[in-house]
Amino acid sequence: MKTWPSLSTVHTPSMLSLLLLAASLNAQNQSWDIANCTKGVLSVPRGSRAVMTCNISNNFSYVTVWLDDEIIFNKTPQGYFRWKGWELQVQGGQAQLVINHTQDVHTGLYSWYLRGCQGDFRNVTLNVSDPLIQPKRVPLEAEPETLTGVLVAVILILGLAGIGTLICYKRHRSKKSPWISTSVTDLRRF
Ligand SMILES: *[C@@H]1O[C@H](CO)[C@@H](O)[C@H](O)[C@H]1NC(C)=O
Ligand SMILES: *[C@@H]1O[C@H](CO)[C@@H](O)[C@H](O)[C@H]1NC(C)=O
Ligand SMILES: *[C@@H]1O[C@H](CO)[C@@H](O)[C@H](O)[C@H]1NC(C)=O
Repeated sequence: MKTWPSLSTVHTPSMLSLLLLAASLNAQNQSWDIANCTKGVLSVPRGSRAVMTCNISNNFSYVTVWLDDEIIFNKTPQGYFRWKGWELQVQGGQAQLVINHTQDVHTGLYSWYLRGCQGDFRNVTLNVSDPLIQPKRVPLEAEPETLTGVLVAVILILGLAGIGTLICYKRHRSKKSPWISTSVTDLRRF
């Protein structure tokens, strides 16, 4: 009972101010679009996938995207949209622009207009580089060939062994056959 009032008197103002601060921050969070986008220059190898994102702290009302002076997505609302090689997904406060096979025509300055509770402009440059020349993976490619070689060798050995046994068997039988044939001819005679 003694400590309770003193604790509350000490803590109530700071608690109250904290709550007020949190409430105001929360209110700010709800009303201001804090944008976070892919920045600067995005460089991808030609033919590969390029992904640009823009996130805001509110839900998007719509997104407009230009490539240099051309509009590629105009006031795009929530959802998934596709135009030529571009795919735009707007979901909540997240917008993602994807190019699956980046070519020279896709490069340039992308300008985004992000409309949440307010509006905000962002820029990102897309650049393509020459695709990396993949070094030939010789050991991996040779592996199936050696396996086939081993299989062929095993089959050959088994085959030779089989032929060998057959020859032995025939020889063994041919030693008996004169007797059989003579007995047959003997039988025919009678
Ligand atoms: C805004 O809200 C998010 C969660 O919705 C939170 O992580 C972030 O800290 C908040 N920002 C401010 C400034 O209150
Ligand atoms: C936007 O949000 C997505 C999903 O959380 C994340 O993958 C992406 O990196 C974010 N973009 C930026 C620029 O922070
Ligand atoms: C774009 O990529 C090329 C290499 O393909 C490079 O020479 C050039 O400096 C890059 N441009 C920018 C703006 O980064």
